[in-house]
Amino acid sequence: MVAHSTSPLVGHWDLDPNVAYLNHGSFGATPRAVIEEQRRWQAKLEANPMGFLESEVYAAMKAAREALAEMLSCDADDLALIENATSGVNTVLRSLRFEPGDEILVPDHAYQACRNAIDYVADRWNASVVTVKVPFPIAGPEVVMERIMAGVSERTVLAMIDTVTSPTGLRMPFEALVEALESRGVAVLLDAAHGIGMVPLALDDLGASYTTTNAHKWLSAPKGSAVLHVRKDRQAEIHPLTISHGMTFPLGDTTRFRHEFDWTGTRDPSAWCALPFTVEHVGGMVEGGWPAIMARNDALCLEARAMLCERLGLELPCPPEMLSCIATLRIPETSVEAEGGFLDPLYYRLAERGIRIPVWSWPSPAGRYFRISAYLYNSIEQYHHLADVIEEELAAERS
Ligand SMILES: Cc1ncc(COP(=O)(O)O)c(C=O)c1O
Repeated sequence: MVAHSTSPLVGHWDLDPNVAYLNHGSFGATPRAVIEEQRRWQAKLEANPMGFLESEVYAAMKAAREALAEMLSCDADDLALIENATSGVNTVLRSLRFEPGDEILVPDHAYQACRNAIDYVADRWNASVVTVKVPFPIAGPEVVMERIMAGVSERTVLAMIDTVTSPTGLRMPFEALVEALESRGVAVLLDAAHGIGMVPLALDDLGASYTTTNAHKWLSAPKGSAVLHVRKDRQAEIHPLTISHGMTFPLGDTTRFRHEFDWTGTRDPSAWCALPFTVEHVGGMVEGGWPAIMARNDALCLEARAMLCERLGLELPCPPEMLSCIATLRIPETSVEAEGGFLDPLYYRLAERGIRIPVWSWPSPAGRYFRISAYLYNSIEQYHHLADVIEEELAAERS
């Protein structure tokens, strides 16, 4: 089997043909034409920095918000362009005020960087963090619903919920969770880092107080492009991490939220400016556009997961309805102990052999885990190659 992809779409990317790139989920990967579009915006900026940054950029950013708002079924004015989901989560947490004893609820599958932000803020305000244990393997979404809602108390003011979890690749029943939590007066911070371009999101219908989603993951936009959606009734309390001119600009016919987020100091906005092109270009790669792309990636992930489980004798950790374009699997016990650290020795050996996937230890249940992603440039042959190489490496560990 070969490492390179036989996907007819791989030609849109400049990925190294000697690498089986099976980890779109961590940082995305941006097609050549999108990078060229981003460079065109950079050239425009540098041709006339003052003209661009003092006027033209606002129209470009508005177009970017509108392109994403159409996909997210929300008002473009409720979106703030930000650099990544980590900063989206921090923006919300560090804007909010908490009373001593307030509870912030978070499942134990949360992304560690975002969990760190919760711990930091809770400590500063003397708030409590309630960690809800979600089993893995898991029987179905109803288990998540039941566990999370059982963690809600009179003191719960905020819950951070993922669309799709990072360590375990579980598509959470986030629509039902948002409804149940918000209707009990718990504000939801939806960490949709794995969101736009991966799972359908209709933010106005969803009704979460705050949602942050990365464009640089499943939309394949340039790095440093994400949005934060804040429900209108919550906008007055949310400020960017960087306080700048927007706080005192004359209001005119716009909102303080817009002013504050549209200018946070001099920076390169080209990743955002390239968003309308990205939505069109990547969306045009498959007949049927983004819904067809999401379905295609989901199907490839499901097929690859089933094959890997069968060939490597692994347990299927969740039903298909809890799977999107990433899947996490647990490696059976081997002679190599999973250490408390982050990356497993197998990660390095696969990287040396030209396969890029994360492999790490996870405490619940303790073991060694790896995660695959499925994207437009991947093909099933690459996962067969992964199975071959994992088989060989695990056999070598045992011998
Ligand atoms: C669930 C989740 N939240 C947040 C992030 C952080 O994304 P970024 O590095 O773009 O801020 C990730 C990244 O993989 C993630 O999986």
